[in-house]
Order: sequence, then structure tokens, then C-alpha cells
Amino acid sequence: MTAFTVNDRPVRYRMDPQTPLLFALREASNLTGTKYGCGTGDCGACTVDIDGEAIRSCQISIADCEGRFVTTIEALSQDRSHPVQQAWAAEQVTQCGFCEPGMIMAIAVLLKKTPDPTNEEIEAAVTNICRCGVYPRVKPAIRRAVRIARGEERVAAAPPPGIRPRDAARVVPALTPKP
Ligand code: FES
Ligand code: FES
Repeated sequence: MTAFTVNDRPVRYRMDPQTPLLFALREASNLTGTKYGCGTGDCGACTVDIDGEAIRSCQISIADCEGRFVTTIEALSQDRSHPVQQAWAAEQVTQCGFCEPGMIMAIAVLLKKTPDPTNEEIEAAVTNICRCGVYPRVKPAIRRAVRIARGEERVAAAPPPGIRPRDAARVVPALTPKP
């Protein structure tokens, strides 16, 4: 049994300790926001926050997460109000959306550590691959997220998709953070 914290909740996984964290999150916890792109550590679609670091969850076993704190895209905010999420919507970064949870998590971790990153710092920290090619819109979104986080800009939250996260979690139970 492997024990650690996922989205502020203690979790014990009865799985092979060598199971990649990505599969434990998706298959056991139903946290399907974290995506499986390549499985080889290259694309970044599976990026989560572990103890404040952006980690590719396909490359770390649950055994290596023992006692640690994992945050997935589901817990970045309950209402899409995180500055990166707001900026993402305002800059219309989205295309198919598959790479986005991982990219947003990588950017959120970057901004937590470096509130106003240089282009070089962005390029070093956000190496996620997007098959739709949203790259030209990512840096403006990061700049906007910096302004939103500083309170220099306000962006109306994107309209709800018709179902609230807590309702979705009731229908398909998933590990959401406590309200
Ligand atoms: S699925 Fe983990 S880096 Fe691509
Ligand atoms: S938006 Fe489609 S893969 Fe990035």
C-alpha cells in the first residue's frame, strides 16, 4: 500500500508500487484531467505538481510519491479562477485541449516559483509539446497571468461548461479537493 496526498486528501493505493503515478491518478482516482500523451516523459501532457515541482507523472512511480503532496489540474482551482486558467481563456489558447492540463500545471508551478519569468525562464520551464501548435499564444497568456496574479488586470471567469466540478465528481467520483 502506498500512501500520499492527492489534492489535499490522503490516499492509499493498493497497486503495484512501481505503477506510474499517471495511471494511479487516472485509473484509481478518476482524475482524468492529467493526460497520457507519450508515456516517455517527452510531451508533458501528464504534468502535475509534486511538492511544488512540475513532474511528468508518467515518469514517477507511486512508490516514489510516498509521503508527498500531489496536485493535479482538478485542484488548481474549483472555479477556473487561477490566473493561468483565466489568462488561458482570455488569450483563447485552447485548441483541442489535450496538452493543456499539463501545460497549465507547468506554468502554474513556474509562476509560483518565479512570479515574473523572463522568456528564457519560460522556455526552460515549459517544454510541453502541443500537437495543435498553440505556442504563439502561450507566452502572451503567461504575461497576462502575471498581470492577473498581481491584480493589475481582471478577467471575467469563463462561462461554466454547464456542470460544476462537484456535480461532475458526484456523477463520476473523483478525488476533488475539499470545498
Ligand atoms: S505522457 Fe508523460 S510526458 Fe508524455
Ligand atoms: S491544444 Fe491540442 S495538443 Fe495542445
